[in-house]
Amino acid sequence: EKQGFKHFMLKEIHEQPGVVRASLEAYFNNLGDSNQSPINLGLPESLYADLEQIHIVACGTSWHAALVGKHLIEQLAGISTQVHYASEYRYAPSPLTANTLIVGVTQSGETADTLAALAMEKERRQGKEPKYQARLLGITNRPESSLGHMVPHIISTLAGIEIGVAATKTFIAQLMAFYALALDLAYRRQTVSLDKLVEIINGLRQIPKEIEATLASQESLTEQLAHEFAETQDFIFLGRGINFPIALEGALKLKEISYIHAEGYPAGEMKHGPIALLDAKVPVVAIAVPGSVYEKVISNSQEAKARDSRLIGVTPVKDGEAAEIFNDLLPVSNVDELLSPILAVVPLQLLAYHIAARRGLDVDQPRNLAKSVTVE
Ligand code: M6R
Repeated sequence: EKQGFKHFMLKEIHEQPGVVRASLEAYFNNLGDSNQSPINLGLPESLYADLEQIHIVACGTSWHAALVGKHLIEQLAGISTQVHYASEYRYAPSPLTANTLIVGVTQSGETADTLAALAMEKERRQGKEPKYQARLLGITNRPESSLGHMVPHIISTLAGIEIGVAATKTFIAQLMAFYALALDLAYRRQTVSLDKLVEIINGLRQIPKEIEATLASQESLTEQLAHEFAETQDFIFLGRGINFPIALEGALKLKEISYIHAEGYPAGEMKHGPIALLDAKVPVVAIAVPGSVYEKVISNSQEAKARDSRLIGVTPVKDGEAAEIFNDLLPVSNVDELLSPILAVVPLQLLAYHIAARRGLDVDQPRNLAKSVTVE
């Protein structure tokens, strides 16, 4: 059952290296044979041919995974991609576009808003000329679900059953599906060289042991921080680029299980209003990983520090001026920026877990929430 863990959520966080390993095995081929694609999703060429645009619909944590997916697809495969809240898209869809792939992301496969948005999209394209026909793809942890029956193509995520209401390992599994999808598109469209593709896949192969290292080093660090933050009322999470969705996910995890008010922001937006919230009572968690936006995140963090906020850095940088601005460090390994979200989310899951556990809350069954939301 809980295998010695106090809650299912903690057990599921610790299962994540195994989820990444299972995904690597399922989605990627051995890299020795240059005549064979390194990606193995089993999707037909007809789904991808002449693709001009992608629309993704999802809710909650799945929506956050989709935002990471958008970044990967646009940067690697060069296809314009939009991510929509399913509950919004249904009533205000984008104008019809030709040669569009529509992707529904739902771990349960039963989320009413996501199913309804896909049904709407399918219906409004019926009877139109072939280039407007709906090309539908589902990403789900339950291929036998309602979503599985609704769409002709599925990428199965390989998280196994998740019991905690807060999604953790299913999120990591969705990220893996998006790496595979973005790389599959990039391979077929030849938007990145085979060498680069292989480099990214080899980087992904290192992720399970990096998550293990993160879990080993952060369990007690996050527990200590949780002790100090158990009575905190507001938290801000900052990230930029591919890690902005991880800031959103860190904030969602914290609010749903600890009932502490938390917001995720793209770090550069702070100065356009939210910075007014900051003072010594509002801690700021900043995801600062080397890459295209590292210096920017550091300077945005400095702005928060100047307002007396306690600064917690999710960063591989342990010393030097940049690291010194943080009051506390939640260290993650230094990996390719494109792969960093999958590591950066882990300390945020642990932080949320330990704060909620410290507050004595029902971590696996938070108030007002259900594992799958089957009402619109
Ligand atoms: O089953 P789904 O992935 O469609 O669920 C979507 C959301 O309801 C879900 O991610 C929710 O936000 C989680 N409780 C987040 O931890």
